[in-house]
Amino acid sequence: MTKHKEVEGKTNKLLSGKTAIVTGASSGIGRATAMTLAQAGAAVVLFARRKDRLTKLAADIQAQGGNAYAVAGDAGLLSDIDILLERTLGWKEGGGKYDIVVVNAGRGLAGSILLSDNSQWQELYQTNVIGAAYLMRQAGHYMVTKKNGDIVAIGSVVGRNISPFSAFYGSSKFAIGAIAEGLRQEVCAHGVRVSLVMPGIVTSGFQKVAGYDEDNFYKGIAHMGKLLEPQAIADGICWLLMQPPHVNVSEIMIRPTGQNYP
Ligand SMILES: NC(=O)c1ccc[n+]([C@@H]2O[C@H](COP(=O)([O-])OP(=O)(O)OC[C@H]3O[C@@H](n4cnc5c(N)ncnc54)[C@H](OP(=O)(O)O)[C@@H]3O)[C@@H](O)[C@H]2O)c1
Repeated sequence: MTKHKEVEGKTNKLLSGKTAIVTGASSGIGRATAMTLAQAGAAVVLFARRKDRLTKLAADIQAQGGNAYAVAGDAGLLSDIDILLERTLGWKEGGGKYDIVVVNAGRGLAGSILLSDNSQWQELYQTNVIGAAYLMRQAGHYMVTKKNGDIVAIGSVVGRNISPFSAFYGSSKFAIGAIAEGLRQEVCAHGVRVSLVMPGIVTSGFQKVAGYDEDNFYKGIAHMGKLLEPQAIADGICWLLMQPPHVNVSEIMIRPTGQNYP
């Protein structure tokens, strides 16, 4: 018990003095990541569209002795990304800087190329690819200048393995994987780390937003057993951020143990 507490105490300090931006912090993986990074000592900037949820999360983090700042906006709107970065740099409690950006805001889309709702394709790309890439680019410029920093992009197992059940969505995550690796090659000589985290199936708000028929969806994957909760991904992100500065975990895939495919 005592030993566990000591480990916790040590771990808790590892991100002290860092300021982390987490997009998509109002739900699921982003929410769990923001809370986990705050518990590890980081000051966190929370970004998503649903301001009420961000305000509540900021209050929860502050109640635990952490430091949090909520900025509402649309991750697919480049002007909102600019506002997010400007406000972060103006946030005194965060030290007027940022060290970590978790590029997590995104959405799925159920269905194949033939059957997915193509009226949602553009919005999906605007959020998952264009907005995410713009945030990575802006953060990359800033971090190259200060010669350190971490950019963590959330991809997906379907951004590595093509699944016919979500092929269009998966293509947006293939794009993020390519952008993350291209950026990593561009900034690594400047002390900046880029990591791609590829979750398997995580139960969150994702399935509803993507439009999965929940009965069929969960029936179809029942053989996989216990699915992941967002905390499993948050813990993976926190772990890679805690590596020494010369160690860049550039990719991780985190699946439920029973997930055979994709
Ligand atoms: N769940 C999975 O099985 C799974 C697997 C692999 C990868 N992923 C990826 O993991 C990331 C997080 O998903 P999740 O599972 O945590 O789903 P979630 O619970 O639905 O959370 C998605 C988050 O993204 C935000 N978001 C979506 N569109 C946005 C926009 N246009 N502007 C600002 N924020 C936006 C949402 O906030 P607001 O609605 O408040 O804006 C929410 O906070 C996504 O990139 C997803 O593609 C999920």
